[in-house]
Amino acid sequence: MIDTASISIDQIRQHGLPAATFRNKDIYQQECDAILKNGWASIGCGQQILNSGDILPAQLFGQSLIALRNKDGEIGVFHNICRHKAAPLVDEPCNKRALMCPYHKWSFNMSGELINAPLYFGNKKQKMSAEDKADKGLIPVRFAIWWDIIFVNIDGAADPFVDFIQPIEKQLTAYSPEDIRIINTTDYEGQVNWKLAIDNFLDGYHVPFVHSQACNVKAALGQEELFLSDNIVGLRLANGASSKPKKTSKQLPHFSGLPTEKQGTQQWFCIFPNTLFFIDPCWVQTIVIKPMGEESTAESLSIYVVSKEAASEGYEAERTSLDAVLNEVNQQDIDLLDKLQHTRSNDIANKGHLIPAWDNVSMAFHQTWLKKMNHNER
Ligand code: FES
Ligand SMILES: [Fe+2]
Repeated sequence: MIDTASISIDQIRQHGLPAATFRNKDIYQQECDAILKNGWASIGCGQQILNSGDILPAQLFGQSLIALRNKDGEIGVFHNICRHKAAPLVDEPCNKRALMCPYHKWSFNMSGELINAPLYFGNKKQKMSAEDKADKGLIPVRFAIWWDIIFVNIDGAADPFVDFIQPIEKQLTAYSPEDIRIINTTDYEGQVNWKLAIDNFLDGYHVPFVHSQACNVKAALGQEELFLSDNIVGLRLANGASSKPKKTSKQLPHFSGLPTEKQGTQQWFCIFPNTLFFIDPCWVQTIVIKPMGEESTAESLSIYVVSKEAASEGYEAERTSLDAVLNEVNQQDIDLLDKLQHTRSNDIANKGHLIPAWDNVSMAFHQTWLKKMNHNER
């Protein structure tokens, strides 16, 4: 067992988190409590459940949840657990008018209320009263939506979401979230600890080497570090978008009203613990990292264009091409991460050397992790 209290900030500064934290089962169990339940973690995107009746299951950090859209077009989030004997209600994304448990057919409406429990009184001819049903509805989860991302707070006691998200909200005032339209969501799985997936997203050093199709060395050298709060860190490339090789013949339209000086800027962030957010003048990418175990992580990558025009027929080829490039980049990371898991979780990795020119942002993520694990801070 690793005692996280014995990990020093100095150790993190030099080498990052100890190798064992990327492979240890007990640490993962601790993370499920200390990091997921009392924070704001993401589970999916609102536009993945665009229509009334759409249901999206999500598993992460040992929890099974569903996000759904009810008949009034509103989103709800519940534990994906039947109130009889806790069977999961939904395994796959689907569209339904009501939720029916596959085990003994208890059914719930899209507000989570119990509609019916067949043969509830056995062979007695008796109907369930409103009172019988009242305490058997699905258990709701506190949630908030930001830039289409559905964030949940399992224990219901985290600081208000508006306070948590305010530092990045301030950073993005020039961009309008209401204009984004989803192109696609792609699911990935990696045999890797979730923290390595986050660390890699905050690693601007590898980008021109691993993803030379998307960024050159000159552009990467221009990156600035962003430390918005303990929970929100990232990177900015002032000319990242304009110095990139052209992906398509025609440029996708950028955010309306975006000031000229921001029309080449790319920024990407980790919102602790598991939300990755990338914003370009012409597109947005979100990655929901879903920890499944100490060496297993699922990811959902969603890509958006940023105007009605960009979502129209005239830009179909450009959207397809953008989707292909961003998924190619992500697959390159997944391939790398699967290999990195073996070596970065080996104790010999503790002899590695982080370098100040490139590793400060990922190091900040490691430090926040340590803080939460040790103090359970919000
Ligand atoms: S567990 Fe769902 S109806 Fe029994
Ligand atoms: Fe990468």
